[in-house]
Amino acid sequence: MKCVALTFDDGPGAHTERLLDMLKKHKAKATFFVLGQNVKANPGVVKRAVVEGHQVGNHSWAHPSLTKLSAASIHEQIARTSAAVKDATGRGTDSVRPPYGAINKNVRAALANEPDAHVILWSVDTLDWKHHSPAKTLAAVKEQTRPGGIILMHDIHKTSVDAVPSVIEYLQSQGYTLVTVDQLLASEHPQSGKVYSHLG
Ligand code: NI
Repeated sequence: MKCVALTFDDGPGAHTERLLDMLKKHKAKATFFVLGQNVKANPGVVKRAVVEGHQVGNHSWAHPSLTKLSAASIHEQIARTSAAVKDATGRGTDSVRPPYGAINKNVRAALANEPDAHVILWSVDTLDWKHHSPAKTLAAVKEQTRPGGIILMHDIHKTSVDAVPSVIEYLQSQGYTLVTVDQLLASEHPQSGKVYSHLG
């Protein structure tokens, strides 16, 4: 099966509920790399995402660059977020996407001590946060997506969520099934601290 994973960072936010409606309508699954502080403010939408079969990963509590933090502070950013997700959904986060994709030896070592903290980066960078253009987001997806790809978007921006129907319709027209990152990783045995950006 030809699969691809849509991922949404920095939420949940004001547009996440509308995004979940779109995913449901198109029978597509996605992965949300959430900020703990936003989960605390919007626990209901995170619960809905899990109930509807989406994956919830960890994007830290407040979006610092983990490469600038001590091991103890990295632990706090990750563990506090996972606890907030557990409060909202009944289970903690199952993977980590470091803010800015910033990772080094110290971050990998710190994450290796956390449960369920394999690192998910991406292979398709839509730059949606920068141009705020649904047309440019779709163009980036068309240009960069390959089977097993991981697409980076941000559900805190209205224009990013506006792009989603055209992105899903394009991918499905190309024969892709939209799955969670966990589903993409199904043939792997992901390890905490190990980095994945493309599967298959
Ligand atoms: Ni981010």
